Amino acid sequence: MRNGLLTLVGLVLGVAFQFPVAALPSEIVVESRNCELLFSVTNGRVKIVHFGEKGAESVGAWTSSPSISVQGSDGASRGGLAVTHTDGCLSLDLRLQSEERLTEHEGVEEVRLHFKDSAYDFRVCQHFCIYKEEDVVETWLDIRNEEPGCVRLRRMNSLSWSFPMVAARHYVQYSTGDWACEGHLREMELKRGADVVFGSLRGTYSAFEANPSFMLSFGERPTEEVGCVLGCALAWSGMWKMSVGLSQNDGLRISAGVATDYGDYVLDKGLEITLPKVILTWSSGGKGQVSRNFHRWARNWQMPNARKLRPIVLNNWEGTQMAFDECKILEIMDGARDLGVELFVLDDGWFGRGRNARNDDSHGLGDWYVNEAKLPHGLQGLASAARERGLEFGFWVEPEMANLKSDFYERHPELVLQEPHRPLRGQRGGTQVVVDFANPVARDEIWRMLESVYASVPNLSYVKWDANASMIHVGSGFLDRLHQSNLPFDYTKGVYSFLKRQRKVFPGVDIQDCASGGGRMDYGMLAFTDEFWTSDDTDPRERVMIQWAASQFYPACAMAAHVTTGWNRPASLKFRTDVAMSGRFGYELQPSRMTRDELEYSKAAVSTYKRIRSVVQHGDLYRLVSPFENDYAALMYVQPDASHAVVFAYGLSRRVGENQIPPLRLFGLDSSKRYVICELNKFYPKSTHLRGGEVPRSGSSLMVQGLPLCLSGNDYDSAVIELREE
Ligand code: DGJ
Repeated sequence: MRNGLLTLVGLVLGVAFQFPVAALPSEIVVESRNCELLFSVTNGRVKIVHFGEKGAESVGAWTSSPSISVQGSDGASRGGLAVTHTDGCLSLDLRLQSEERLTEHEGVEEVRLHFKDSAYDFRVCQHFCIYKEEDVVETWLDIRNEEPGCVRLRRMNSLSWSFPMVAARHYVQYSTGDWACEGHLREMELKRGADVVFGSLRGTYSAFEANPSFMLSFGERPTEEVGCVLGCALAWSGMWKMSVGLSQNDGLRISAGVATDYGDYVLDKGLEITLPKVILTWSSGGKGQVSRNFHRWARNWQMPNARKLRPIVLNNWEGTQMAFDECKILEIMDGARDLGVELFVLDDGWFGRGRNARNDDSHGLGDWYVNEAKLPHGLQGLASAARERGLEFGFWVEPEMANLKSDFYERHPELVLQEPHRPLRGQRGGTQVVVDFANPVARDEIWRMLESVYASVPNLSYVKWDANASMIHVGSGFLDRLHQSNLPFDYTKGVYSFLKRQRKVFPGVDIQDCASGGGRMDYGMLAFTDEFWTSDDTDPRERVMIQWAASQFYPACAMAAHVTTGWNRPASLKFRTDVAMSGRFGYELQPSRMTRDELEYSKAAVSTYKRIRSVVQHGDLYRLVSPFENDYAALMYVQPDASHAVVFAYGLSRRVGENQIPPLRLFGLDSSKRYVICELNKFYPKSTHLRGGEVPRSGSSLMVQGLPLCLSGNDYDSAVIELREE
C-alpha cells in the first residue's frame, strides 16, 4: 500500500507530520485529478519513477525504470545541485531523512522531502506542491548549510530529472525574443547528444533572449489538441538556465534553475536559501491543455487578484512620451472618460526636479518626487481629476534604475551596481545605471521615496513597474569580495522583497510588470504583480504572434494589450482593436487625435469589451489556427460552463482572391446547447465576416462542422464572433 494510511491520516488531520527516519516509506505518491507523481525510496535515495497520467503505462508516462533522480546525487555532471563543501569536497550524497505532508488549502497538497548529505551537515528540503484540480505540480528547494564554514553552490537547479527515452520522437518548444520582438516560438525535434540549452544572463531581464518556460512532447509532433506534453516554467526573474536533452545512450534529461555563470553562490554557515519554484504540468491532450492548466493555476493560485476582472486602461506613453503637462493629461483623461475607459495610467516623465527633471531619458531616474513645474497640482491633483471623470488612477515607476544625472546618484553613488576599477557605463539615455537591489540600504532609500509618493495619492489603484537596463556591471559595493558572485541571485531576491513590501503596505494597488516590454514575463514576477506589458512593439500583426507565444504559459488576464496609433505597419483601427481585445484591453494614444468616427467606433468597442471580458480574462483558451504556420490566426475563449464564448480571427497578409478560410472547428462548447452567433466590432454596420450569417447553431455542429468565416486579402482583415447559449 502506497503509505496510504499515513497519507490519509495526514489529510484528515490537515496537519504536518514527519516519518521518523526508521519508518521511511518505500514509495511516495502524490496525485492530482489526472496526474500522478510517484517516487521510490531505496536506502534513503529517492528516485522519481513516474510523472504523467494516473496509473498509466502509456506512452509518455515514465513508468519504465526507477532512474529519475529527485535531486542531484548521481554524479557531478548530472545532479541538479553541485556543491563544494567547507573542506573542499566536491560531491553530494543526499539521503532522505523524513517525509512531511501538509494540506493547508483544499485542493492543494504539499509533500516535503527532507534530505541530508550522508557525510556533511548539508541539508536540502525539496517541496512538491500539488494543485489537484489544475494538474499542476510546483517544486523547489530550501538549502541549509550547517557545516562549520561556508559552502559554495556551483549549480543551483530546482529541477533536474533524467529518465529513459519514452518515445521514438521528442519535441521541445520554447520562445525567444528581445526588445520589441518578443514571442518567437521555436519548436525542434530532440537529437541524440545535442542538448537544447536556453536561458538569460541579463540579470534584470529574465525573458529577453528566451522565456523561462518550455513544452516537451513525447511521440509525434504535438498539436494543440493531440499529444503527450509536459509543460515546465521557472518562476525566476533573474539569471537562469533550462535544458532539455537526449543523451547518446537514450537518457532524456530536463533541468531548470538559477544560472551560476557569474560564479558560485557562497552560502554562509548557518544560513538557508530558497531556490525558485519550477511549475510543471502534464497533458495527454496536446499543448492547448498544458496552457489551460497553467492559466487556471495562475488565476486560482499564483496571481494576487486574478479573480477580479481587470479594468480597461488608457496609458499616455505612446500618445505623448515625456512631452506632457497637466493640461495635456487632463485633455487625455477627458478622452478616456468619453471612451468609457476605467483607469488612466500616467507613464514616464512625471518626476525629478530642476536640472534633473525627467524630460528626457537621461535625467531623473531615482528621484521619486513629482515635477511640479510640469504638474503643479501634483499626482494628487491628477488623481482627483481622474476621480471626477469616473476614472481610477495609476502611474509609472522604475525603482531599480537611476540616472547618473539625478539627485539620488549625486547623494548615493555607492548604491548603484559598479565594479571597482571600471568606469560606469550608462545605458538608456547614456546615463542609466542599475540600483543595487541586493543592498537593503539601497532598497530602503528607494522605498522611502516611493512609499511617500504612493501614500500621497488618494485611491491609488495601479503602478506600472518598469525596468529598462541590463545588469552590465555585475558588482556590488555592499557584498564583500568573497560574496560578489551572490549578486545576481541576491539582487532578484531583493526585487521580490521590495515587491512583497509594496503589496503588503498597498494591497489595493495593482502592479503591471514591464521590463522594456516583455523582458520580465515570468512566473516569479506574477506572484507579486497582476499583468505584463508583453512588448513595446504594438504593431498589431506582431502582437498576434507575441500574444500567441505568451499564451503558451500566461493567461489572457495578465496580457496587457493596447490599441495604439502606429508602430511599423499601418493597420485599420478595427484590426488594432480586435487584436487588443483578446487580452487585457486598453488604449495608448491621445483620443483628441482620433476622428469622430474612430471615437464612436472605439466607444462601442469599449462597451463590447465590458460585456465579453469575463470570457476573455477568465475563460479557457483554445488556440485554433497558428499565425506561425498560416496566413491567418484564430483563437477562442470559452466560459468554463460553456455558456458564452468569443472567437477571434486575424488575417495576416493574405492573398487577394482567397477570401474564405476553412470553417473554424471550435472547442470547449457544449454539444447539446444551441448558440446565438453575433459578430462584434463591425466597422461598417452591414459588413459581416460570417459566411452563414448570424444564424443560431448547435454546439455539436460548431465543433464538428465549424464556423465558416471569410477574411479578405486586405492587410489586415479580422473578425470577432460572440457565441451565447440560446
Ligand atoms: C519602456 C516601457 O516598455 C514603455 O511602455 C514605457 O513605459 C517606457 N519604458 C517609458 O520609459
